[in-house]
Amino acid sequence: MKCKRCRRAGAAVELPSHHAAFCPDCFFVFFRRQVKEGIRKLRLFSPEDRVLVCVSGGKDSLVLWDVLMEEGYETEGLYIDLGIEGYSDRSKEKVLAYAASRGKTPIVVELSKEGIPIPEAARCVRMQECSICGTVKRYFFNRVAAEGKFTVVATGHNLDDETARLLGNLLHWQRDHLARQHPFLPEAGEGLVRKVKPLWRVTEMETAAYGFLKGIDYVTEECPMSEDATSLVYKEALSRIEDKMPGTRIVFYQGFLDPSNPLRKSPEAAYEPDEEEGGGSPRACASCGAPTFAETCSFCRLKERVRKARSLRAGRASA
Ligand code: AMP
Ligand code: FES
Ligand code: ZN
Repeated sequence: MKCKRCRRAGAAVELPSHHAAFCPDCFFVFFRRQVKEGIRKLRLFSPEDRVLVCVSGGKDSLVLWDVLMEEGYETEGLYIDLGIEGYSDRSKEKVLAYAASRGKTPIVVELSKEGIPIPEAARCVRMQECSICGTVKRYFFNRVAAEGKFTVVATGHNLDDETARLLGNLLHWQRDHLARQHPFLPEAGEGLVRKVKPLWRVTEMETAAYGFLKGIDYVTEECPMSEDATSLVYKEALSRIEDKMPGTRIVFYQGFLDPSNPLRKSPEAAYEPDEEEGGGSPRACASCGAPTFAETCSFCRLKERVRKARSLRAGRASA
């Protein structure tokens, strides 16, 4: 098969949704163009911004960091060690090794040192690991960014992630969630830092191909605590549609982002008050000072519940 761009034989990546196949070098050019286009179209950030890239050790976030560095953006990596036996150590190794290969040292937050390792915290409050993990990660993404004077927080969510979430939100008519499902959430008062998803135009397969061809070593195992079976069902359904009708995913997502789409609010409206999630103008958490739409932020409320459960247990053990 010939490469669509340089016309030489030896195309390594076939992309039916773009009616194209590329050799490795031309695929790198194509992939980076897609990411740049994603940043430009939604004005996610500019060369003046300081970008905190949240890296989990998986392919998406390491590829994102790689592309942003190659494009000359000012970036630092943040890894949150969730305290999950085995898995967290293996993920951290990948992040540290990748960063070292690029002459970087990532910022590392260890949840066990913060007193809230995910597995133990989940046991204490009798909740699914993943539901508290999201709250804790979001809290530290913003806190590290605000403390380090970063202007943007970037995560590695790709087109497959975003369309699966969109399908889920549409099937359940989660209108408020739709408003917050934008690859750009603006900064707001009290140190709420802008959040962006620069890989929104590229698929999981494209990101995996980029990582593989670039020789980026990433963790392939899923988090053992992951219970998010529903998003996998949506991903599978969309993959089957994409196989039959290449290009459906990006059409679906771009249609959602179209400003004339009545179901989509502007990113600036993401913090409009609603009954379920609060919203409005952020204020400082009464306990830790982090931006929140409630009296106390969800992280501090969670920590308090964990603290109470621990002291209850300790009381029982000594009785
Ligand atoms: P997930 O929620 O696991 O699908 O991850 C979505 C994105 O969140 C990843 O692409 C990363 O950018 C970021 N992320 C997930 N886990 C971590 C972590 N432990 N440390 C830093 N960033 C993370
Ligand atoms: Fe959150 Fe696994 S518990 S990624
Ligand atoms: Zn707080």
